Amino acid sequence: MAITKEQLESVEERVQNIVSVYEAKEDCLLQILHDVQADNNSLSEAELIQVARAMDIPLSRVYGVATFYSMYSVRPRGKYVIRICESAPCHITGAQAVIRAFEQSLGIKMGETTEDRKFTLEYTSCLGVCGVAPAVMINEQVYGNLTPAKVQEVLATYNED
Ligand code: FES
Repeated sequence: MAITKEQLESVEERVQNIVSVYEAKEDCLLQILHDVQADNNSLSEAELIQVARAMDIPLSRVYGVATFYSMYSVRPRGKYVIRICESAPCHITGAQAVIRAFEQSLGIKMGETTEDRKFTLEYTSCLGVCGVAPAVMINEQVYGNLTPAKVQEVLATYNED
């Protein structure tokens, strides 16, 4: 689908403001994409184009970075991105049961987003908290020692808002 002028204009000012904070330094591209993505947990085509324009670098470079790192997504994601660790320590301490509990509670599979765009389920590699495996990260918050019962408790706190 072609990008429209209106879509480009709707994100132009916000992207330019973010890029100007970092003085359009290419070294800061990762941080710039992080900040641009903060609103929706994903990067739209219009945002990628405006980042390239504001930084005066090729769109292919911006797109390459946005698709290389798992912390960015060019596909729409939910307000809350649930990253479930699938590395060995989490795997052997029950990550599969935790995954099933999230999938059943949310009615989606790994890699999918709920229809109300509230939750997205994704795999991640080690979160660096193997001592409390199995672990997940929801946006910036880490949860450890998870069980299927604790998954319900965690989700309940997000369903309150
Ligand atoms: S292996 Fe899951 S947090 Fe390290």
